[in-house]
Amino acid sequence: MRVLGIETSCDETGIAIYDSDAGLLAHTLHSQIDLHAVYGGVVPELASRDHVQKTLPLIRQVLADVGLDKGEIDGVAYTAGPGLIGALLVGAGIGRSLAWSLGVPAVAVHHMEGHLLAPMLEDNPPPFPFLALLVSGGHTLLIKVEGIGRYQLLGDTVDDAAGEAFDKTAKLLGLGYPGGPAISRLAAQGDPTRFRFPRPMTNRPGLDFSFSGLKTFAVNTLAREGDDGQTKADIARAFEDAVVDTMAIKCRRALKETGLQRIVLAGGVSANRGLRQRMKQLGEALEAEIYYPRPEFCTDNGAMIAYAGWCRLRAGESATLSIDASPRWSLERLSPA
Ligand code: KG4
Ligand code: ZN
Repeated sequence: MRVLGIETSCDETGIAIYDSDAGLLAHTLHSQIDLHAVYGGVVPELASRDHVQKTLPLIRQVLADVGLDKGEIDGVAYTAGPGLIGALLVGAGIGRSLAWSLGVPAVAVHHMEGHLLAPMLEDNPPPFPFLALLVSGGHTLLIKVEGIGRYQLLGDTVDDAAGEAFDKTAKLLGLGYPGGPAISRLAAQGDPTRFRFPRPMTNRPGLDFSFSGLKTFAVNTLAREGDDGQTKADIARAFEDAVVDTMAIKCRRALKETGLQRIVLAGGVSANRGLRQRMKQLGEALEAEIYYPRPEFCTDNGAMIAYAGWCRLRAGESATLSIDASPRWSLERLSPA
């Protein structure tokens, strides 16, 4: 079965074709970073308009790349939430209509399930059950995963998401958007011993996160110490170390509490090098296996949507003819597939 995947939940148009026999056939991505960078963050209306312009040409391009006709697609998967409503409706509208016109099933994919299953596209996919840390611009979720659609939420953020904390702190440091890669680059030049930021909510039980205080810590440090280049790099380093360490502490706790031996890291922040190094150490210390998607599939992409869509289509799921999107949608509401 060949599934076309369409991702338009935020600021990236991602298109891919997944073949259940041959694997991922093709994928392409158009990033809107240049469009939003001048505003310092995503402007939802501009995002929707850009998806309108890019989605169909990218679908045609991906089909041409692999020499397929649209009639050779057996199913269409589109991100139906969570995300920006206007942006989601573009992918849902195009995906649902295309499937109808081709006479094939369509399936509405949960964006975070896409992230969660992205490591399944790699050579060494994680077997169930596992612990998943999903860290993106909008979410910070620790989940016990027993199978597709069998998700138990163990921890969540009580305020900013991990990626959001990176983006906001980057803005305060005068760095560009998106903030995660910018902080990460600057942090590499920072002195890890000059400042120590707190590890929020680690000194009490539980698996929830809180990251908003770290940006206040960054602002106060900047005001106190001055904003020369080295100080900014040292602050970026202290911030990154605090976020990474906090996540590692919670993962360790979650592994112990659940008895699980495998962790999947996914979502944009899982591209972070410091996090990968820290999790590698944790894995070695606890004899746990750590799985990631390749870096380009950590951030938003169409491949993960095509794959997650296939998992649901093969279980017989398909969307009704109505074009629906859910800007807010809990992973726990998904059904097993
Ligand atoms: O998964 P994603 O592409 O989109 C959402 O679903 O939100 O994640 C985007 C987030 C942004 O907040 C971005 O700053 C962050 O991931 N990010 C990173 C890195 N690359 C992207 N954060 C830290 N380090 C990185 N290398
Ligand atoms: Zn995402």
